[in-house]
Amino acid sequence: MNNIICDILNIKTPIISGGMVWCSNWFLASSVSNQGGLGLIGAGSMTPEILEEHIKKCKDATNKPFGINIPLMNVNSEKNIAVAIKHKVDVVFTSAGNPTLYTQRLKDNGIKVIHVIANNHFALKAQNAGCDAVVAEGFEAGGHNGKEEITTLVLLEQLRGKLNIPVIAAGGIVSGKQILAAMLLGAQGVQIGTLFATSKESSGHINFKNAVINSTEGDTMLLLRKLSPTRLLKGNFFNMIKEAEDKGATEEELLNIIQSGRPKLGMFEGDLTNGELEIGQAASIINESLSVEEIFSKLKREYKEAFEELKNLNKDLVF
Ligand SMILES: Cc1cc2nc3c(=O)[nH]c(=O)nc-3n(C[C@H](O)[C@H](O)[C@H](O)COP(=O)(O)O)c2cc1C
Repeated sequence: MNNIICDILNIKTPIISGGMVWCSNWFLASSVSNQGGLGLIGAGSMTPEILEEHIKKCKDATNKPFGINIPLMNVNSEKNIAVAIKHKVDVVFTSAGNPTLYTQRLKDNGIKVIHVIANNHFALKAQNAGCDAVVAEGFEAGGHNGKEEITTLVLLEQLRGKLNIPVIAAGGIVSGKQILAAMLLGAQGVQIGTLFATSKESSGHINFKNAVINSTEGDTMLLLRKLSPTRLLKGNFFNMIKEAEDKGATEEELLNIIQSGRPKLGMFEGDLTNGELEIGQAASIINESLSVEEIFSKLKREYKEAFEELKNLNKDLVF
């Protein structure tokens, strides 16, 4: 069956595990690629030396294509781009920055480039920069979000028919039925973060995974709008940021709170009191930590079941 994302990435199933600081290491990335999807190593929390190690380990663990996510606002981004080129990785997913910066350089070196966008303007900018596809990420997503706070459902519909490069949907997706919905809205693949962050193979700390699994409706919210809107799990660190913001904290004051290794402390070392916990809204739907293999079989089963359910919908109900 033809699928343009599978063709571009040379994969079997158009499911991508998003690059995630402190969660998506070589083990998660290679496990996803071994299931026929595309695993990404999240370079956002890696120095160039550490990234090299992860690329080497990933190559040892899979002979399938895998990619790297490089957030462009990161201090190491330029050096990490050079590492991606040195190791001839299959694809780089850039995010949080200007897609014109490195796209041509990567493409000149035979590397595919996919840029994460959260609005129409950046989607067109990514297309004009020569990107092979875009990830359309709604603000339900874990991690950093767009300032416009556009939901995945609206973003996909907004983009439909506007681009001549394919769209990968992201934000809030944890089931096969949602994958089908995204496909019906014009996406050709999906990028999933939160669900893979809780997987057995994720390098996130067990305390972090359990906190996500035990969270319920309304337990994540978007804060840090002055800097870069970030979806956080409620808790001590969340309260600290919220209080500072309610008192009108400046960008500099907020930077002081977040720039002290808080994401590593929370997500990688499991300090739920002092650490920053980034996770998507769909955290409330996840009730257990599954292996990557279990996640793929669940998503595939649900996707097929959703097709069967379509037949039971009354197409004359609305019109
Ligand atoms: C813990 C965590 C860390 C993340 N870190 C990054 C990152 O470093 N770079 C990036 O582009 N996206 C990052 N994301 C976003 C994911 O790559 C993905 O697009 C998003 O999680 C999809 O939405 P979902 O969480 O609802 O599945 C992160 C997401 C999570 C949950």
